[in-house]
Amino acid sequence: MVRSLLDIDDLTRDELGTVLDRAAALKAAHENGGNDDILDKQTLGMLFEKPSTRTRISFETGMTQLGGHAIFLGPEDIHLGHGEPIKDTARAVSRYVDFIMARVFDHADAVELAEYASVPVVNGLTDDAHPCQTLADLLTIRERFGGFEDVSVAWVGDGNNVAQSFVLGAAMVDLDCTVATPEGYGIDDDVLKRAAGLGTEPNLATDPEAAVADADLVYTDVWVSMGQEDRREQKLADFDGFQVTPDLLGDRPLMHCLPAHRGEEVTDDALESDNAIVWDQAENRLHAQKGLLAWLAERE
Ligand code: CP
Ligand code: NVA
Repeated sequence: MVRSLLDIDDLTRDELGTVLDRAAALKAAHENGGNDDILDKQTLGMLFEKPSTRTRISFETGMTQLGGHAIFLGPEDIHLGHGEPIKDTARAVSRYVDFIMARVFDHADAVELAEYASVPVVNGLTDDAHPCQTLADLLTIRERFGGFEDVSVAWVGDGNNVAQSFVLGAAMVDLDCTVATPEGYGIDDDVLKRAAGLGTEPNLATDPEAAVADADLVYTDVWVSMGQEDRREQKLADFDGFQVTPDLLGDRPLMHCLPAHRGEEVTDDALESDNAIVWDQAENRLHAQKGLLAWLAERE
């Protein structure tokens, strides 16, 4: 059966461990001279409805490093969004490429793409989920702390796509996670139910200072996600008090999926401080996705 990754819990707990191990092994090999051509002559089609720096470049570079090739398909490049339905795009593109990566607004569109595709579809971010980010985040935390046991993460900010996949991934590896959001901006109930069925449930909070008090690491993301620009003024007001500053951070490492909106969810000095491990986190997108693609290729 074709396997897709629409959210992190499309993997089992064991499979998540396998993908992270594979990513770590590929990273070590890359640092020691390069990777084998595991994906020789294979092609990844990359569909983007939204902008991207890290996702696009890490997937494209990852395919090159594994001996394959990636095709960038932006919103103006193909018929999707200009009259051709998703189900037709899915079936036609599947006849050419070995994997599809899609960054779309509506999560239901990624689900439909996967339903009609005959190759694996990897979610490169929807309004609801960002599982590839979670793979990189877990790899980064494991590198930093040597595992997940006795590690506590405080998420401070919006209960958005990045937070939702992170909460699910954290549950799957039994990582202690506290999510502090303003009232009305929490994690969706459906995601909380899924997390409860996967492993360690997140603690929910509305006070950033209390949330970080016992944390080993602080994670944040933008308050105004792509597509929410018309809600900007309201969100900036609602998130008052949730900014990650050096004071809130203390000596804890800081994670951010990037891009950051400095002066909003995080201050410039927090992001520029030695506490920030955001560049390691960004690099790990490359290794994590290579691990995922290699694992997917072997399963097909
Ligand atoms: N974190 C992340 O997905 O970044 P991009 O939007 O640059 O791809
Ligand atoms: N929450 C952000 C993440 C960007 C990688 C957004 O959706 O815009």
